[in-house]
Amino acid sequence: MFKILLYYMCCCSDMSSQYARTEMDYFTRMTSKTKHQDKKNVVIMGRKTWDSIPKKFKPLNNRINFILSRSDLVLSEYKDVYSFKSLADAINKLNEHNFKNLYENIWVIGGSHIYDECMKSEYFYRLYLTRIHKAFECDTFFPALPEGLKEVSDEDVPKEVQNEKGIDFTYHVYENVNFKD
Ligand SMILES: NC(=O)c1ccc[n+]([C@@H]2O[C@H](COP(=O)([O-])OP(=O)(O)OC[C@H]3O[C@@H](n4cnc5c(N)ncnc54)[C@H](OP(=O)(O)O)[C@@H]3O)[C@@H](O)[C@H]2O)c1
Repeated sequence: MFKILLYYMCCCSDMSSQYARTEMDYFTRMTSKTKHQDKKNVVIMGRKTWDSIPKKFKPLNNRINFILSRSDLVLSEYKDVYSFKSLADAINKLNEHNFKNLYENIWVIGGSHIYDECMKSEYFYRLYLTRIHKAFECDTFFPALPEGLKEVSDEDVPKEVQNEKGIDFTYHVYENVNFKD
């Protein structure tokens, strides 16, 4: 059984580019880090999240980018980028014998519908949540959290309150108690 990890920063993405360099570095570190040097992590995202990534940062480097879209996307200019018509298709790819050797962790990085679908799946293991201690105007929201999450610690996740440009934020890790390995 593979484990899906969700990464979400509340609040909206504009905030990250304007204020939270530290948070962006944390996102990159967490979603890129592998134990085996010859493997990469997979990041799964919706087409709008992909569109929201500035061209110079596409694809997310040192990670295998999976994009979900019901349309035919033209991605041939990119290396290590795949598109799928459904989450089930993406999971089939992750289960392919030859592909399995290439990746280590699976991170789902949004948006709303994909978070929701993943949290309802049997593969949902952990949610890595960054809480920004300030209210911002947002246009995309995280779905309701499911029952059965407990907060856990992860040695790679700083426990102390972070601060950048006067804004506090904290990192949290929630584990799905119903996950069966
Ligand atoms: N704060 C954060 O941590 C965070 C995280 C992620 C995203 N964001 C922000 O949120 C915004 C985008 O989020 P969003 O929720 O609006 O959109 P999204 O999930 O990124 O993209 C939605 C699109 O993904 C495709 N899609 C979704 N579910 C699918 C499925 N099951 N099968 C196939 N295709 C599927 C569809 O693409 P087609 O229309 O092409 O068919 C759909 O229109 C951006 O502004 C982004 O920067 C913030």
